[in-house]
Amino acid sequence: MRAPTAVTVIVPTFNERDNVAEVVRRSSAALAGLEAEILFVDDSTDGTPDAVREAAVDAELPVRVLHRERPDGGLGGAVVAGLGAASHDVCIVMDGDLQHPPELLRALLERYDEGGADVVAASRYIGGGDSAGLGTAVRFGLSRAATLLTKAMFPKRLARSSDPMTGFFLVDRRRIDPAALKPNGFKILLEILVRSELRVAEVPMAFAARLHGTSKATFRQGTTFLMHLSRLRFGKMSLFALIGALGAVANLAIMWALTELGVPYVWAAIVAAEATIIGNFVLQERFVFADMREGASRLPVRFATSFAFNNVEAAVRIPVLAFMVETWHLSSILAAALSLVAAFFVRFVFHSLVVYAP
Ligand code: GDD
Ligand code: MN
Repeated sequence: MRAPTAVTVIVPTFNERDNVAEVVRRSSAALAGLEAEILFVDDSTDGTPDAVREAAVDAELPVRVLHRERPDGGLGGAVVAGLGAASHDVCIVMDGDLQHPPELLRALLERYDEGGADVVAASRYIGGGDSAGLGTAVRFGLSRAATLLTKAMFPKRLARSSDPMTGFFLVDRRRIDPAALKPNGFKILLEILVRSELRVAEVPMAFAARLHGTSKATFRQGTTFLMHLSRLRFGKMSLFALIGALGAVANLAIMWALTELGVPYVWAAIVAAEATIIGNFVLQERFVFADMREGASRLPVRFATSFAFNNVEAAVRIPVLAFMVETWHLSSILAAALSLVAAFFVRFVFHSLVVYAP
C-alpha cells in the first residue's frame, strides 16, 4: 500500500486563545504516525499566537502560526494565505473552536487517498452527519435555506455537494488557482467549488458546539454572503428577476385590457395570471435555463412542473399575505412586497433544482 499523503491542517483563528491547545492536542492524536503539520493563520487581538506557540512545545507534529498584521479578506483571506504558506499540497481547512471534530481529519485524508476526488468535504447533511452544533432553530433554518439557494444558483458545480458552506474540507491545492480566489467572508469552500471544475467527495460530520468563546458569524456576515453569491452568480439571478418583473407588468396590462373590454375582473385576473405564467416559462426556457435544458426532463414535463408550481405558489401567497397582515400587523403593501421577494427566491430555487434538475 502507498504511504498516506502528507497533509497541512490550516486552522484560521480569530481570538481563540482558550481553544488552540485542545485543537493541537486532538489533531496530533488524530494524525499520529502521518506526515503532517498544523498551520494556524491568525488575525487575533487576544494573544492567540502565544497560546499556539506554547501548545507547540510538546506537540508531536510541527505546529506553525502565521499572524497577519493586516487581516485581509477575513476568514476566507486567512484560508487563502494558509494555502499559500502550507508545506504540503494537500491541505485540510478546519475551524479553531472544535466545532469541527479533529478526529475526522484522518477520514478526510483516507477518502482522498482512495482517489477520484480533488476536494473532500465534511458534511453536516449526509447520512451520519449532524448539525446540532448550529444551535438555534433559526440558525438551522437560515443555514438550510442558504444551502438550497446556493445549490440552486450553481446546480452543476454543486451537484455533488450536500454542504457547500461547510468550513471543514480537504483540498488539493495543485487543482486550484489560489490567485483566482476572491474570498470575502466565510464561504471559502463555495468560492473554491464554483471557480473551477473539481471532483467532490464527502464524509459525514457531526457539527459540535463551540468549546470556548462565541461565533464570529454576524448579521453582517449574512449580508456579505448574499453579496458574495450574487457577485458569483449575477447573470442568472438578475435575468430571472428581470423576467419576473416583466411578467408583473404584463399581468397588469392584460388585466387592464380585459376589464376595458368588459370582462369581469375575477376572470380578467385569472386569465392575466395564467398568461403571465406561460409567458414567463417561455422566456426562462429561452434565456435563463437554456444551458440546463439538455439533461433535464423533457419539455412537456418541465412545463407541467413549472405551471403547477406557479399556480400553487400563487394560491399559497394569498393566505400567507393574510397571515402577515393579521398576525404580524404588517401593512398590506409591505406584506405584499415581502411575499413577492420570498416568492422570487422560492421560485428560483424550485426551477433550478427541480424543473431543470439534471
Ligand atoms: N484568521 C481568521 N480571520 N479567522 C477567523 C476570522 C477572521 O477574520 N473570522 C473567524 N475566524 C475563525 C474562527 O476563529 C474559527 O476558528 C473559524 O474561523 C470559524 O469561525 P466561527 O466564528 O466559529 O464561525 P461559525 O462557527 O459561526 O461558522 C462556521 O460554520 C459555518 C457553517 O455553519 C464556519 O466553519 C463557517 O466557515 C461555516 O460556513
Ligand atoms: Mn464556530
